[in-house]
Parts: sequence; C-alpha cells; structure tokens
Amino acid sequence: MTKPFSAIPSAPGHWLLGSLPQIKKQPFHLYAYDLASRFDGLVRFRLMHKPVLLVANPVTVQTILKARPDTYRRARKTESVFREMSVHGVFSAERADWLRQRQLMNPAFRPGQIREFFPIIQRCTEALCRNLAARPGGNPVQTALMACTADITSVLAFGIDLNTLDRSDHEFQRHLNSLFPMLMYRLHAPFPYWKLFRLRRDRELTESLQYVRRSVAAMIEQARAELAEKSAADRSYRPENLLEAMLTTRAENGQRFTEDELFANVLTLLLAGEDTTANTLAWTIHFLADQGDLQDQVHAEIEANYPRGRPLGYTDLDRFPLTFACARESMRLVPVAPYLLLEAYRDQVVEGYRLPAGVMVMVLLAASGLQELAFRDADRFMPQRWLSLSDGDQKRFASELMPFGYGPRLCPGRQLSFVEMKVALIELLRRFRFRRTAGHEVTESMAFTVVPTNLRVDIDQR
Ligand code: HEM
Repeated sequence: MTKPFSAIPSAPGHWLLGSLPQIKKQPFHLYAYDLASRFDGLVRFRLMHKPVLLVANPVTVQTILKARPDTYRRARKTESVFREMSVHGVFSAERADWLRQRQLMNPAFRPGQIREFFPIIQRCTEALCRNLAARPGGNPVQTALMACTADITSVLAFGIDLNTLDRSDHEFQRHLNSLFPMLMYRLHAPFPYWKLFRLRRDRELTESLQYVRRSVAAMIEQARAELAEKSAADRSYRPENLLEAMLTTRAENGQRFTEDELFANVLTLLLAGEDTTANTLAWTIHFLADQGDLQDQVHAEIEANYPRGRPLGYTDLDRFPLTFACARESMRLVPVAPYLLLEAYRDQVVEGYRLPAGVMVMVLLAASGLQELAFRDADRFMPQRWLSLSDGDQKRFASELMPFGYGPRLCPGRQLSFVEMKVALIELLRRFRFRRTAGHEVTESMAFTVVPTNLRVDIDQR
C-alpha cells in the first residue's frame, strides 16, 4: 500500500524557515549530501513552507530521470527564471517544445561534428598553456581554465574567438559572467522579490542582458549571412559551428528554431558548456596538485604515448587512460552539477510513498560516488581505481554515477567536454607540474556549478 508523503522521514528544521538556516551556512549540495547519507537516500525537508523531496538512490534517480519529458519536468521555477532572462532554450523547455529543440540541437553534437571542432580545441588549449607559462607562481588557474573553455565554447557556439584568455577585460564575457550567477541566485531565491522591487544587482542584470542580447543578435545575423554565402559557393558545405548547425537543421516536423530560441540556445550553450568543463578541470588540477608522484606517473603515460613529430590528433586521445581517469575520479569526488530540481506533473509513487504533483524533487546525481560502500577509500583521489575495475563494476559505476544526468535529457555536450578535458589534461600535464600554493585553503562553493574557491597553484615547467 502506498504510504502518504508525510510518512517520509523528515529533516529537522526551523518551524518557519525550514532548512534555510542550515543552507545559509554551507552550499546547498553539501547540505543535501549530508541529509542523503543520514536518511538513507530518501528524505523530505522544507524551504520555508515549501516541501522538497530529496532523492539519492541511483535506481530511484534513474526511474525519475527516465520518466521525462511526460511524467517529470524541471521545477517550474526554472522555466520562469530562464524565460525572464531570455535563456529559455533546450535546458528549460518541456515536453513537445523540448523535444523539438533537442532534435534541432543534437546534430551539432554528433561525433563527426565534434571531430571537426578538434583544431579549435587544440588552438585554445595552446593559448591556455602559453597563458599559464607566463604566470607561474600562485596562479589563479581556475580563471585561466574558465577563459579557455569560454573561448572554445564561443568559437564552437557561434564561430567567434572571443580570446578572453588574452583579453580578461572582454566586455561580452564580463556581461556574460554577471548573468550566470544571477540565474543561479534567482533559481534558489525563496521568493521572486525582483518582481516587486529591483536591487542594484537586478538593474545591472538588465543592463548585461541588453548588451548580451544585442551582441548575440549581431552574431546570429552575421552567421546567417556567412552561411548563405558559403552554401551558395559550395553546395556540400557542412556547418562549422553550433549556430550554423542550428540554423540549418530542421526538426522532424520541419520546423526550425525561432529567433528567440536561437538566442536562448546560444546562451544556453555558453552557460552549460563553460563553467562545467572548466571547473571539472580545475578540481582535477586541485586534486593532482597534492600528489606529485601521481603527476609523474601521468606525465610518463603522456610521454610514452604522445605522437612523435606531429601534434596530438583526435584519434590519439584514447591512448591516455590514466590521464583521463584523473578527470573521472575528479567527477566522482566533485560532480560539478550535483543535482537537478524537478517536479511531477501528476501524483507519483516514489519508493512506496505518494509524491504529490508539483512538489519539488531534488535529485542527487552522483551521491553514491562518495560512499564507502560503493568505493573503497571513497574520500581519496585515486584515479588508478578506474583502471582496474572489472567489466561489471565499470558498468555499475557508469550507471550509478550520473555527472551528466540520465535518460532522454542526458547532457548533449558530454562527448565534447570529454574531448576538451582530455586535450587540456594531456597538454597541461605534459608541460607543467602543479603544486598547491601554501596558505590557500580551497573550499567548495556553488555558483551554477561547484567551484573550487581560492584555488591557487604554483606551476613548474617540465
Ligand atoms: C563536465 C562538463 C559537463 C557536465 C558535468 C554537464 C552536466 C550536465 C547535466 C547534469 C545536465 C542535466 C541533464 C539532465 O537533465 O538529465 C546537462 C544538460 C545539458 N548540458 Fe551539460 N554538462 C557538461 C558539459 C556540457 C557542454 C560542453 C555543453 C555544450 C557546449 C553542455 C550542454 C548541455 C545542454 C544543452 C543541456 C540541456 C539538455 C536538455 O535539457 O535536454 N554541457 N549537463
């Protein structure tokens, strides 16, 4: 028999504020991890008067994520906040609207297309290496990584190299950087105060949105004109960036992206593609910086397998299992997008309890990665563990840890980010040795993705 929602174990909280005081003291995801481990993966808590169901058991998580787009959707607030900020694209769209946009976007992420992007990824990674070599001591490496993935993503998204690696004052990027934290802030705000009154940060947001909107509109215009020219000159011309791919693709029903959707999806790609990959790399370097011996092993693997007399090629990337295991291990310890906020369209049953429609469901994507039951020495950075797994364990972990989500809405950019991360780690660890700069305590904070705050490393050339 189905038990009522009120029978789900409940986290202790303030009578009026619920869990807000605890969440103020630490990042939301760390609070959620702690609750999930204390309450066996299923617990409810309150954000003021609003109940939230926290779900962490992988099988339940998968059942919920697979039941999209018809049974579950992203929490309604996602759509309204994304809409207000003109980023209502594939990430926040639902049902038929989502399906059409996803069909339009998928071709831009086909392996063949990613292969075509390889030279761009290489060029930006070279610029990253030059940038880091020029600033060896106490380097804010995370800023450089963000600039690198921003440059890669902007060339891939609309064919323009912003070159923020060399130009930290780039106006477009400055405005973009102010959009994303606000998006996160509004998504988690207990109530939408900005609909009643505007603080300085809300006025600045409007200004940044106007700037970005104008710039992206001009980029779309330019891409459309160039595409027409190139296709007229060469009838077999293939799209060179995601915007061109989105301009040329039609959904199964023959529709194309509307102007607003194009704008929203270009921004969605910048949003989804930059911080996630950059911060995964930043965490990897953070963990490696404490382990000189491991860096030497990785360096030996790279030296042994790096091609002689020619640059690294796309097909070489699988020759560096230990190097890539460092990124996998970092994603296990700190999945940078640790949770999704969803809700059901109609009442559902979750682990035998009734879940009323519309109640927020916080789904943890990779909580078992931190559990001793699943991983020996779960809190230690041990990339070697990924090399000696049996086939069964490989499969089990691949399905239990879902750093890219799961089901029909699985991240379309995961292969692209693997390629970016592989190239970056191979080139960085081949040339440099990272050491943690003394006196800099790194903490986790949540700013759309999980960020290593205060990360500073000393860099020695090999
Ligand atoms: C380490 C890198 C990345 C991580 C950890 C990551 C993680 C995620 C997660 C957890 C989701 C939600 C999936 C779900 O709802 O089941 C997602 C969605 C998405 N990601 Fe990524 N992502 C990464 C890189 C990228 C890149 C490089 C791009 C593109 C340039 C990208 C584009 C997207 C898009 C468009 C969505 C929305 C998909 C949809 O709702 O249908 N991501 N990503």
